[in-house]
Amino acid sequence: MQPVLLDKAENIARTNEMLERAAKSEVDVLVLPELANSGYAFQSGLEVRLVAEEVPNSEFCQILKKWSLNDRMVIAGICEAYETSIYNSAVVFANGELRTIYRKVNLFNQEVEWFEPGRKEPPVVEFNNHHYGIMICFDWAFPEIARILALKDAQVILHPANLVLPYCQNAMITRCIENHIFAVTANRIGKERGLHFSGNSQIVSPKGEILCRLGENEVSIVYHDIDLEEADNKMITKRNHVLRDRTPELYERLVKRR
Ligand code: ACM
Repeated sequence: MQPVLLDKAENIARTNEMLERAAKSEVDVLVLPELANSGYAFQSGLEVRLVAEEVPNSEFCQILKKWSLNDRMVIAGICEAYETSIYNSAVVFANGELRTIYRKVNLFNQEVEWFEPGRKEPPVVEFNNHHYGIMICFDWAFPEIARILALKDAQVILHPANLVLPYCQNAMITRCIENHIFAVTANRIGKERGLHFSGNSQIVSPKGEILCRLGENEVSIVYHDIDLEEADNKMITKRNHVLRDRTPELYERLVKRR
């Protein structure tokens, strides 16, 4: 979809349209983009504060919550006000309940001026006996995030995004192969204050196949039936398991600051 910068009412209308289209397509798990309630290209802290919303009581959250009744789950990016801080967050509602809030750990570029970074491990949500890992946009560039989700038994990564750099859609193919996991990247389209967002929302399989992908400027719901159990098989050959064959005794450097 294409959120509109600073226009909360219009973003609720556009989100509602997506929710209705998804319901018509009998989608049971829906991923919406990062910062779907607010737009992205802020220029001041005041602008961010004007559109930041509390979870779960804001109107934006309430339409997600309502949609999630009837055995559905939805994740959306939200500009979140919490206590005295603002976060770039993702909220997950399932069966009419708030299931988790993930606060983006890896803030991109100017985002560091507007948001506090999240300081908690990315979560995995259970829904209808399947496991859904959550990350947001630029987390793609830090393979540790997807790896942690795989180690927490996520079968699919739900990935709201507002992508600016041209690498992520391809990088997610690698994230999927190296973790034997599915990934659903929901990316916004359009331009804001000179920033161009790259669309191409996609679903990728544990073998790195692009199961479906929208166009660069396409507003739509794209969906695919996936068998999440496929992600439980971590064998990359008969002899190589992508998680068990790690050699953590060699990885001390990975957990130290440079
Ligand atoms: C991004 O993390 N929104 C590029």
